[in-house]
Amino acid sequence: MEINGNDLPQHIAIIMDGNGRWAAKHAIGRIRGHRKGVQAVRTVVRACREIGIKYLTLFALSVENMGRPQEEVKALMFLLDEYLSKEINDLQKQGIKLTTIGEIDNLTPQVKEKLLQAKTATADNNKMILNLALGYGGRDEIIFAVKKIIKDCQFSKIQLKDINKKVFAGYLQTAGIPDPDLLIRTSGEYRISNFLLWQMAYTEFYFTDVLWPDFQKKDLLTAIADYQNRERRFGLTSDQLKKNCRNNIKE
Ligand code: IPE
Ligand code: IPE
Ligand code: MG
Repeated sequence: MEINGNDLPQHIAIIMDGNGRWAAKHAIGRIRGHRKGVQAVRTVVRACREIGIKYLTLFALSVENMGRPQEEVKALMFLLDEYLSKEINDLQKQGIKLTTIGEIDNLTPQVKEKLLQAKTATADNNKMILNLALGYGGRDEIIFAVKKIIKDCQFSKIQLKDINKKVFAGYLQTAGIPDPDLLIRTSGEYRISNFLLWQMAYTEFYFTDVLWPDFQKKDLLTAIADYQNRERRFGLTSDQLKKNCRNNIKE
């Protein structure tokens, strides 16, 4: 699959879905499906780094997923712990900086500690940002931002009249990260499941039936190629875009 290196999405977000169905298809337990899903994470992180993607946000665990059977949540924590231990050196070698969004206080103390270590160790890397959404919910993120804004208003750190889209975005957990250009969701589901609700206002969506554990570099390239065939109009007309208004539109 040919992609154009000059028109890459700066930020790709992925809803990595279908581990459970992959396991059912192979007549094995859900947890083994998650384990296989971690391999796909490795593949995709490496591929994005190779291609030259600057930001990759992976939806690894939603706030709603925390309500799954205890055994499954425990296994997901274990796998996350294992991933961080195994991958930290590789992330370093590849110059990848690890960040997270979501409520990491809801994770186990060991995982939280490992995440803090990994974030500190990779803080100066600048080849790519790997942003893991863990215990993440888009609506929770927005409510949290609103509360913080109200507090800052009360303490006169900010004035009501100064609140605009840019300022609001700065209160979200993704502050400093550009909005996703491309969202990929695997496993044939056509919904966003409380992911990056504010940030995806103008994101291009790509849905595939491939189950996450089967997702490979070629699938990523297919998604990017599809993205490159689209015209992002941001509410304007094609003609306006051709007249090079594009830079003024994204604000
Ligand atoms: C995605 O796979 C991984 C997480 C949500 C943690 P699922 O576990 O949702 O897999 P399906 O949707 O049951 O197939
Ligand atoms: C979304 O998948 C969350 C992650 C991939 C981490 P879900 O499997 O939780 O989403 P729904 O329940 O099908 O909407
Ligand atoms: Mg699912």
